[in-house]
Amino acid sequence: MCGIVGYVGPRQATPILVGGLRRLEYRGYDSAGLAVLDPRTGKLGISRSVGKLVELERALERQPLPGHVGIGHTRWATHGRPSEANAHPHSVNGVAVVHNGIFENYLELKRRLQAAGREFSSETDTEIVAHLIDEALGAGAPTLVEALRVALSQVVGAYALVVVSERHPDEIVAAKNASPLVIGLGNGEMFLASDVPAMLEHTRDVVFLEEGEVVELRAAGFKLSNLAGAPITRPSRRILWDAVQAEKNGYPHFMLKEIHEQPRAIADTLRGRLQPETSDVDLDGYELDPRSLRRVVLVACGTSFHAGLIGKFMIESLARVPCEVDLASEFRYRDPVIGPNDLLIAISQSGETADTLAAVKEARAHGCRVLAISNVVDSAIPRISEATVYTHAGPEIGVASTKCFTAQLAALALIAIHMGRRSGHLKAPEAARLITELAAIPARMTTALSALGDLKDVAARYRDARDFLFIGRGTSFPIALEGALKLKEISYIHAEGYAAGEMKHGPIALVDDGVPVVVLAPRGPHYDKIISNLVQVRARNGRVIAVGTEGDTQLADMAECVLWVPDVSPLMQPFLTVLPLQIMSYAIAVARGNDVDQPRNLAKSVTVE
Ligand code: F6R
Repeated sequence: MCGIVGYVGPRQATPILVGGLRRLEYRGYDSAGLAVLDPRTGKLGISRSVGKLVELERALERQPLPGHVGIGHTRWATHGRPSEANAHPHSVNGVAVVHNGIFENYLELKRRLQAAGREFSSETDTEIVAHLIDEALGAGAPTLVEALRVALSQVVGAYALVVVSERHPDEIVAAKNASPLVIGLGNGEMFLASDVPAMLEHTRDVVFLEEGEVVELRAAGFKLSNLAGAPITRPSRRILWDAVQAEKNGYPHFMLKEIHEQPRAIADTLRGRLQPETSDVDLDGYELDPRSLRRVVLVACGTSFHAGLIGKFMIESLARVPCEVDLASEFRYRDPVIGPNDLLIAISQSGETADTLAAVKEARAHGCRVLAISNVVDSAIPRISEATVYTHAGPEIGVASTKCFTAQLAALALIAIHMGRRSGHLKAPEAARLITELAAIPARMTTALSALGDLKDVAARYRDARDFLFIGRGTSFPIALEGALKLKEISYIHAEGYAAGEMKHGPIALVDDGVPVVVLAPRGPHYDKIISNLVQVRARNGRVIAVGTEGDTQLADMAECVLWVPDVSPLMQPFLTVLPLQIMSYAIAVARGNDVDQPRNLAKSVTVE
């Protein structure tokens, strides 16, 4: 996601802030900016640029920002396209803010502020907070931290929020809810950042903010309190990671970090879109009435294609609209029968994949409507689509997609519920149940991830296998395909995913005591059938690794190894059943000594055919 830095102390802030932002570059961003309080004029100097940090540095050469108190930001667009106006800091009457996260109720607050005569200069949700703080200061808030508290009492959402103000020039105030923020302790100077690497060259003594905490930073020290103003004391921690480990938040690889970021990625993708009061889903204001549609065609490549296969289950079962799923590379060349009554849903994490882009162009040429699902705001596919449901997974650095996959599932579930409500097929009580279940998925994923552990023992057992089979039924079939893809991508072991019912039509010939067969067997409508498939594999001496629902004692006796996941309804199972397969692939690849984050022959964004 976005990067935040802050500095207060005797040194010039600008080089420290730019250096900190450079340390966060690896996370990806599309624009950057600084706000520094100029002690000569008492005014805030602000500089913002689109593109790489070097653009900001050029702007700072032209117009330097002197001063000892400042904040900086690299933005990864979520609300509003990448542009100078949307880049942070956002400022209003001498109050400047930078923000990571999403304010869910920003439209409602923006309308109220506009009605009160306030004007906005960006499309972001962040700018409202600068107004709220300015409003609170104008209404007599005695301190900046008090004004921040007044503002926070009005917002709903996730934030790491950092503020400086001309009216309180010696301090920075900040607050955290769901997005990370960490204080760095210097000698007569203080640092603040969204991530440890940003300040590692200045200090290793840090204090991590917890949820609902507010901090006031001055050169001499910091004061931590909760939202109600009660003081909090917390000892600092010494960071022993090196710079590279710090970029990975202490994880040995980005892929593992991203696997563990999935609960947050899903929560951010759902944030502000689930509407439990009306048992509905708001697709950021986009209205999709399926009654005018003949059918939906989902197109994508690789892992995103597997998300599309699950999207078909979701949309067909909740909205009862016929769906097809196609590989973008096939769709674009097969002279598809599509027209104005069809909706193409193009799924692409990067938003730049050449085949998916070409499929969208082909569909548009036939007058077909196009909705995109992407993780990159304003990338090529969203730019030529009628609307985009963005996933808010944050930049994915590991080449093998993990958190973007489950965030795509979350986006598809949102679209399916939205369409289901409008098709009339999904009644309010069932929608309410699904919304509650979806909202609980991040917590279920956290539980599953901690229960699964590192699976090093499983990796040690199967790392030398030459071939793997993955089988599943229903929504577990695409997960079998995804499990096989993850394994082959990073471990270089040959792996095939199959619909379990196909086993006896060919693949079962491969089974012997040298081939591990991963059987996706969560409890649900296909359970008995998949158990029959499992038995057939065992009868041929196959080595079964099962993925099963916690508490299934029958399964425990039938497999060489069982990877347990919490119980959820069948449509939601893919969010959980994919987790052990991601971790197992990762653990096997590490055990084989492979370059997990940059596997051979693969690129993160495939912009050529
Ligand atoms: C697999 C993987 C790829 C991508 C595929 C599509 O781990 O990452 O299979 O899913 O190249 O990429 P996007 O989603 O960017 O269109």
